[in-house]
Amino acid sequence: MKGDGRCLKLFLALLILFLQNIKGGEVGHSHSLRDAKVTVRCIERERQALLAFKRGLVDHFNQLSTWGSEAEKQDCCRWEGVYCSNQTGHVIQLDLGYSFPGKMISPKLIELHQLQYLDLGMIDFNYESQIPDFIGSLTNLRNLSLSYCNLVGQIPSSFGNLKQLQHLDLSYNQLQPENLNWLPALSSLTYLDLASIDFNESQIPDFIGSLTNLRNLSLSYCNLSQIPDFIGSLTNLRNLSLSSSNLVGQIPSSFGNLTQLQHLDLSYNQLQPENLNWLPAPSSLTYLDLSRANLRSVLDLSLIHFNGSQFPDFIGSLTNLRYLSLSSCNLVGQIPSSFGNLTQLQNLDLSDNQLQPENLNWLPALSSLTDLYLSRNFNGSQIPDFIGSLTNLRYLSLTSSNLVGQIPSSFGNLTQLQNLDLSYNQLQPENLNWLPAPSSLTDLDLSGNNLSTVFDWPEAVLNKLRKLEELRLVNCSLPPPPTPILSTTLYKTNSSTSLAYVDLSNNHLTSSIFLWLSNYSTSLVTLDLSNNNLAGFIPDFTRNMSSLVGLDLSNNYLTGFNPDFTRNMSSLLHLDLSINNLTGFIPDFIGNMSSLVHLSLSDNQIEGANPNLFARLCNLRTLWLQRNRLSGQLSKFVQLLPRCAQNSLEQLYLSENVLAGSLNNLTRFSSLKFLNLNANRLSGKIPESIGQMSQLQEVNFGMNSLEGVTLQWSLNLTDD
Ligand SMILES: *[C@@H]1O[C@H](CO)[C@@H](O)[C@H](O)[C@H]1NC(C)=O
Ligand SMILES: *[C@@H]1O[C@H](CO)[C@@H](O)[C@H](O)[C@H]1NC(C)=O
Ligand SMILES: *[C@@H]1O[C@H](CO)[C@@H](O)[C@H](O)[C@H]1NC(C)=O
Ligand SMILES: *[C@@H]1O[C@H](CO)[C@@H](O)[C@H](O)[C@H]1NC(C)=O
Ligand SMILES: *[C@@H]1O[C@H](CO)[C@@H](O)[C@H](O)[C@H]1NC(C)=O
Ligand SMILES: *[C@@H]1O[C@H](CO)[C@@H](O)[C@H](O)[C@H]1NC(C)=O
Ligand SMILES: *[C@@H]1O[C@H](CO)[C@@H](O)[C@H](O)[C@H]1NC(C)=O
Ligand SMILES: *[C@@H]1O[C@H](CO)[C@@H](O)[C@H](O)[C@H]1NC(C)=O
Ligand SMILES: *[C@@H]1O[C@H](CO)[C@@H](O)[C@H](O)[C@H]1NC(C)=O
Ligand SMILES: *[C@@H]1O[C@H](CO)[C@@H](O)[C@H](O)[C@H]1NC(C)=O
Ligand SMILES: *[C@@H]1O[C@H](CO)[C@@H](O)[C@H](O)[C@H]1NC(C)=O
Ligand SMILES: *[C@@H]1O[C@H](CO)[C@@H](O)[C@H](O)[C@H]1NC(C)=O
Repeated sequence: MKGDGRCLKLFLALLILFLQNIKGGEVGHSHSLRDAKVTVRCIERERQALLAFKRGLVDHFNQLSTWGSEAEKQDCCRWEGVYCSNQTGHVIQLDLGYSFPGKMISPKLIELHQLQYLDLGMIDFNYESQIPDFIGSLTNLRNLSLSYCNLVGQIPSSFGNLKQLQHLDLSYNQLQPENLNWLPALSSLTYLDLASIDFNESQIPDFIGSLTNLRNLSLSYCNLSQIPDFIGSLTNLRNLSLSSSNLVGQIPSSFGNLTQLQHLDLSYNQLQPENLNWLPAPSSLTYLDLSRANLRSVLDLSLIHFNGSQFPDFIGSLTNLRYLSLSSCNLVGQIPSSFGNLTQLQNLDLSDNQLQPENLNWLPALSSLTDLYLSRNFNGSQIPDFIGSLTNLRYLSLTSSNLVGQIPSSFGNLTQLQNLDLSYNQLQPENLNWLPAPSSLTDLDLSGNNLSTVFDWPEAVLNKLRKLEELRLVNCSLPPPPTPILSTTLYKTNSSTSLAYVDLSNNHLTSSIFLWLSNYSTSLVTLDLSNNNLAGFIPDFTRNMSSLVGLDLSNNYLTGFNPDFTRNMSSLLHLDLSINNLTGFIPDFIGNMSSLVHLSLSDNQIEGANPNLFARLCNLRTLWLQRNRLSGQLSKFVQLLPRCAQNSLEQLYLSENVLAGSLNNLTRFSSLKFLNLNANRLSGKIPESIGQMSQLQEVNFGMNSLEGVTLQWSLNLTDD
């Protein structure tokens, strides 16, 4: 169950982002400064063109509310994302930078002939539109980005007219690579991103090699199979990404021409870079990502045939490196001490190899390291002492390594350490006296270690944990309280604590945990107690938890709630009570939680709800009630749902209940995306009006007696 708490956190983060997005999209505040002095500069033809362009988009959240034909919106130079020349009044820059659905790129855009900068990245054309030809007539363009637009088809050869173009980003669409003959005409290009164009393992055309001004080139996810030879002639490259492009074989020696290269990403391929003599010396590389490059054969060869230094020596000479990833490279055995020359290195990722502590005895020399990833190595050994000498470390991960024993006391030197992940080992971190005081630690993850033997964190340790924000003790076999580790960590800390995210899921905790949870105020933001042995009636333990936004009590044996539960939880967004023993009606306190966005009560024995229960849950987006005992008419139940959420409810799961009657009165919830009524006792015809619910992505009406329906019925309805 590792990761559940993070999922919750992520969910909340996304949610908050989403809510901000809704609120924030309205004003281009960068414009408000200009308001006072500006007279209308906007050119009428261009204004009309922009309005036509807007009609090709679907602006659900009114992100372009500043765009309009009303009198007060007359000056299109003040519209969100529109920038005009202050000499000529022509629109020179169009930069939407929002993610929303698009239907078409209006041909009227061609009126903006002075446009120098066009960024439509993230507008989602749903794989239904091609890049229009006319973009090639916007000959003043210097920057063009169509990344993440879900466009299809070929790139129009009219692009060859864009002689001034410096920056071209076509990444992450489904474009076809045929006919790129226009590319060499763009001799001013310094930035070219063709990521995710599928070259079908064919050789990419050599003429890209004539774009010698290129500084940044990405051919990631391009399905190239071989590193193209022409790259060696792009001698101005600073930044090259060939990640995830199905590459096999060697790195061509022409790479030796790339003396300016700073950033090289070859990750996620099957390269065998056995011969790396091409590297220019001294190299300017600061970033090198060879993760998953499968270097095993290299090391094996080097150890056996090449004086033990073929592969590692070359990296040891890249003394400017700041970032190095060799994760999942099948590294085995000694890594030579030349690695100790990488004294500029700040970020080192060696995770997921087969290294042992003694293979890394050069590590203490890397005194600039701030981020160190060593997870999935060191199988069965102790945590090496020498890590404690890397006194600048802020992030350290040693997860999933079968580590045994204690945390070495040298860790007391790690006064900068903020994030320590020791999860999924067999450590006995009973003694945390090594913690430096004051400790900078904000995130501590000891999940998946057996903490069942009772141990205590003394007051002195707790005082050092004052900055802790996230504590994860998932799957630790924590026994029922009084569990010293818990009672002291949580109980004794007072309101000055910063502890916000606590995940204690998958343990053996019982309901007595509520007793001491109820006794003090906390700064908790999310609390996960799922998969424990909580049983019976939940007391009002949340009295002082006014900052709580996520609470997960799922997968326990809860039967009911104190009526005052949630008195102070008006900010709760996410409540999960699924898989418990709740019976009767949905607890009434839920009706007071007016901020709720996600509510799950699935897998209980709930029979119904009081009439006004949901009335104030205007923010509800997902309601999960599957596998309960809801009975009566579906249309009656639907009437309980909050009217104020009828334009926001997205997921309604009522499957495996005993609801009867017809599907009437559902269409009011026009924003529903997921509707599951499977395995009830519904009958009658599926109303035509369901077809007007334009957001529906997945519908399941199966296992009912509805007319003309098979088991699973999936609608594919798009807007208009
Ligand atoms: C004209 O616009 C540029 C940026 O586009 C700005 O830096 C400059 O101050 C403006 N000039 C006047 C006179 O407003
Ligand atoms: C346009 O592209 C150039 C070259 O990549 C870049 O340096 C510049 O910052 C871009 N302009 C804007 C406004 O982003
Ligand atoms: C890459 O191209 C090959 C050869 O045409 C094709 O079989 C394969 O599906 C492609 N791979 C990807 C990931 O698109
Ligand atoms: C991909 O290449 C193979 C030959 O390697 C060819 O048979 C196939 O038609 C190509 N597919 C596309 C979409 O170009
Ligand atoms: C260039 O490097 C930066 C980081 O320095 C990276 O974020 C960016 O994606 C790279 N761009 C290309 C085209 O490789
Ligand atoms: C180009 O690459 C350099 C070097 O990695 C990087 O600093 C810069 O941000 C990149 N330019 C763009 C526009 O991504
Ligand atoms: C790049 O290097 C190769 C061999 O390493 C060499 O033959 C070629 O002339 C070089 N190209 C340029 C443009 O310097
Ligand atoms: C790197 O370290 C090795 C020994 O570990 C040393 O012999 C060599 O001179 C160093 N190279 C550089 C470039 O500093
Ligand atoms: C780190 O801690 C150990 C033992 O706690 C100590 O002996 C050592 O001198 C410290 N090293 C540094 C670099 O501070
Ligand atoms: C909870 O429900 C399960 C199955 O319905 C039952 O076996 C168990 O005894 C109940 N536990 C409690 C504490 O009510
Ligand atoms: C369902 O909606 C219809 C109007 O479409 C209304 O007449 C009827 O009373 C509603 N039925 C229920 C049970 O709410
Ligand atoms: C719905 O659309 C998706 C992708 O757009 C497709 O994979 C799926 O087969 C479609 N389902 C039906 C029932 O048309």
